[in-house]
Amino acid sequence: MTSSSPKAILFIGASTGVGLSTLRRSLAAGHTCIALARKPERLTENLGSAPSNLRIVQGDGKSLADLKRCLTHPSQPKTLVDFVCSTVGSTWNMKKMTIDDPTLCGDAMKTLMRAVAELRGEGYSGNPHVVGVSSTGLSTLGRDVPLLQAAFYYTLLKGPHEDKRVMENELFNSTVRWTVVRCSLLTDGGESTKRIRAGMEDPNAGKVESRELGYTISREDSGKWIFENLVQGDGTWVNKVATITY
Ligand SMILES: NC(=O)c1ccc[n+]([C@@H]2O[C@H](COP(=O)([O-])OP(=O)(O)OC[C@H]3O[C@@H](n4cnc5c(N)ncnc54)[C@H](OP(=O)(O)O)[C@@H]3O)[C@@H](O)[C@H]2O)c1
Repeated sequence: MTSSSPKAILFIGASTGVGLSTLRRSLAAGHTCIALARKPERLTENLGSAPSNLRIVQGDGKSLADLKRCLTHPSQPKTLVDFVCSTVGSTWNMKKMTIDDPTLCGDAMKTLMRAVAELRGEGYSGNPHVVGVSSTGLSTLGRDVPLLQAAFYYTLLKGPHEDKRVMENELFNSTVRWTVVRCSLLTDGGESTKRIRAGMEDPNAGKVESRELGYTISREDSGKWIFENLVQGDGTWVNKVATITY
């Protein structure tokens, strides 16, 4: 069962990749979308159009003031948006062999939670469903990457994964409805007809509901899965971790 009633959705980090794919589909489905972007022109260029149901706000995902500006429902007074999709990610730096901003994801999620708390303190109602996009290799309930990929994930990606863990823990301990989406290795390319498998964990109950191991998934198909199962979803994935892969 899916819910297609129009939502107000905040996107953080949708200029490219998984976020852009989710945003494009949400706009086509008629949802009201707000996109917080450091460089709005980059988003507009990648989107290729300027739909009337999109408001782009220039700002930073780590700025409390910028997030508070974007979290308010555009047509319902004193109400928070219905849904937030955060796909912020830092660029890989070949010289440093790690990411440019090693605390980006954790900092952005902490700030988002603070913005929600402050707005609630100011009398705003609503309980947004917040989606944080993360990575496989982070499960504390067993190996969630194929054996051949494990060494690479548990060594080279240790730094970026620590940041993702901070982000995930913010959501696990939050007062909002949340879903963490752990994508396997992300690839480029258009939408495919490949079957997307999704494993489910309930970290707060310490339980693996189902395990799906795989090597890759594209950014485009990850956005498709998030749109179909979370934006249009029936609540099955609320307060769960989804591991998505081909
Ligand atoms: N690479 C992998 O194989 C892999 C696997 C699993 C998960 N992930 C993670 O999945 C997420 C999505 O990946 P992706 O490849 O789709 O990401 P991406 O294309 O690199 O997009 C990241 C987005 O974050 C935005 N951003 C960066 N810093 C920001 C800030 N301070 N404020 C606001 N926006 C900011 C970027 O916008 P601008 O730079 O245009 O401002 C961009 O739109 C990332 O967190 C990534 O680390 C990656």
